[in-house]
Amino acid sequence: MTDRYAVVGNPIDHSKSPLIHGMFAKAAGQDIVYDKILVPQGGFASVADDFRAAGGKGLNITAPCKLDAYAYADKTSPSAQLAGAVNALRFGVEGVEGENFDGVGLVRDITVNLQQAMTGRRVLMLGAGGAARGALLPFLEQQPAVLHIVNRTVGKAEELARIGASHGNVSAGGYDTVEAGAYDLVINATSASLTGDAPPISADAFGGATLAYELAYGKGLTPFLRIAREGAPQIAIADGVGMLAEQAAEAFAWWRGVRPDTAAVIAAITIPLS
Ligand code: ATR
Repeated sequence: MTDRYAVVGNPIDHSKSPLIHGMFAKAAGQDIVYDKILVPQGGFASVADDFRAAGGKGLNITAPCKLDAYAYADKTSPSAQLAGAVNALRFGVEGVEGENFDGVGLVRDITVNLQQAMTGRRVLMLGAGGAARGALLPFLEQQPAVLHIVNRTVGKAEELARIGASHGNVSAGGYDTVEAGAYDLVINATSASLTGDAPPISADAFGGATLAYELAYGKGLTPFLRIAREGAPQIAIADGVGMLAEQAAEAFAWWRGVRPDTAAVIAAITIPLS
């Protein structure tokens, strides 16, 4: 029988995961079916139960179900535990295993696809919500010279810095602690772009930076990326489309034992930024 997978969330119509995994499966010669399933409010566990009962092998989980998926898993990875969120589930003899590949996908996009080393460099991360939490340990594993985390609600940034302190050089503060020209990489892990807003950062923060990365994707040149361009016209800019493809490749490898190449997928789902 063909193995079944799906992405679940609400809304779900927009999800590119079926296209991505379909391309991976074709390229890797893997016979799988990958659907998308809308989860009614509060209905994650029953959707997952039904999918498993029908023989489903694994799920990707998108908003707003990542916390429910974490609670649903019998066993979770350290990255999922830190994020308190799961974006991939695997159903097998081990029970329900939960993983979170968002952070490793992001690091892989930055360091491999965009060829921007993080090691020894100064990284500024905006935001301290779920997305920032997922990025924390994968970033620190790269041993940046410093990871400075800023957030409107300063206490949340400070909490992430406390969690990360034993893993690397991490500091935290409000947006007033952002210095001009002090960073190589600036990462927007806030959800501001989803509502068309700019995080409160000024153009001079980008002076000397080589990359501005927007975790949201498919939003074109967001206010954050516009500010980056204003501050550093030569700066490389990217949105989260490569991260999306890379976290999908990690999940595919975890489920199927084969890591697919992401270049063709990234080319297929990229929307130009300018
Ligand atoms: P996600 O899962 O996308 O990270 P989240 O956990 O709700 O979503 O976190 C949203 C993040 O974006 C938070 O860091 C939030 O800042 P606060 O913690 O101070 O609320 C940040 N954020 C959202 N809108 C923002 C805006 N307009 N400007 C700056 N930060 C914003």
